[in-house]
Amino acid sequence: MKIKKYMAGMLILSGALLLGACGKRTDEPEEIYVGVACYNESDVFIGELIDCLREQLNGLSEDGLQTTVTIRDAAGSQRTQNDQVKALIEEGSNILCINLVDRADPSEIIDLARENNIPVIFFNREPVAEDMMQWEQLYYVGAKAKQSGVMQGELAAERIRADSRVDRNRDGKIQYVVLEGEPGHQDSIIRTENAVDTLKNEGIELEKLSYGIANWNRAQAQNRMMQMIGQHSNEIELVLANNDDMALGAIDAYAKLNITESALPVFFGIDGTDAGLKAVMESQLAGTVYNDKEGQAAAMAKLAVALVSGEGLEKMEFENGRYIYLPYYKITIDNAADFLNFF
Ligand code: GAL
Ligand code: CA
Repeated sequence: MKIKKYMAGMLILSGALLLGACGKRTDEPEEIYVGVACYNESDVFIGELIDCLREQLNGLSEDGLQTTVTIRDAAGSQRTQNDQVKALIEEGSNILCINLVDRADPSEIIDLARENNIPVIFFNREPVAEDMMQWEQLYYVGAKAKQSGVMQGELAAERIRADSRVDRNRDGKIQYVVLEGEPGHQDSIIRTENAVDTLKNEGIELEKLSYGIANWNRAQAQNRMMQMIGQHSNEIELVLANNDDMALGAIDAYAKLNITESALPVFFGIDGTDAGLKAVMESQLAGTVYNDKEGQAAAMAKLAVALVSGEGLEKMEFENGRYIYLPYYKITIDNAADFLNFF
């Protein structure tokens, strides 16, 4: 450790000398070493978000900021992630972007970051408020789960009102099932609650037939959906999925069982992944809610620069001092193509 600090001192010194020699301002940001740790890169939305983040951070180099990005995948283990963060710090990261495996268990990472005085930007998996209070150099970038649930409910209500065929058995109620993400994730329970409450507030009569937990995963959702179809055969009129991949898994289940179009429910997802948007364009998915990965990645890159350079932080807007939430957008067949190509 001592040696490392000494070397770091030498580097800063020689850097300052170099800058001095070139006649440059010495208050320019030093090199940005971003250590990124994600919970599971095989999660489709996370994979796409990480691609955006990589692009944004590499883009900083084009703007003249020296940036090095290292990305580690914990593949679902918090233990692994703690070790990866330790290694990222030893390798010289001066800013950490952390997508926690267990959003309720960030203490080891916070301790490591604080001991080494490296600010942390948590993203996508929001630590509980109490943990965010552990140190003033902790930030969060994400989106509000409630907004996505409300928007999914509004999209479903619009469709149900516009198309009387959704109520296939014509009993005046919509028989529905829910596919839920990981238990304990802020985006699972809050999305479900708000989608259902919004439908009810919009005057839609609902009957819940069942639900299945599928951990954001397409294959798991296909399995859960096959079971639910087994129990309720063609009674299901609406499938609300906490994300696109699970909605696509539900569609896979119907395809596998060769169930014809007249007996299909309507499906709604959240995220607007590439596959999700294409499914909306092909009318397989009735709608989705765009989880703004480009906006989130851009906010993280900007915040990373501000935290490392110590400049520009005062110009950024935060909620509760250290939170940045990007808005969601409703997507139907009318605007899906714009989102696929727009960004
Ligand atoms: C959610 C997203 C899911 C999944 C999850 C992982 O915001 O909608 O698809 O990626 O994050 O934390
Ligand atoms: Ca019905």
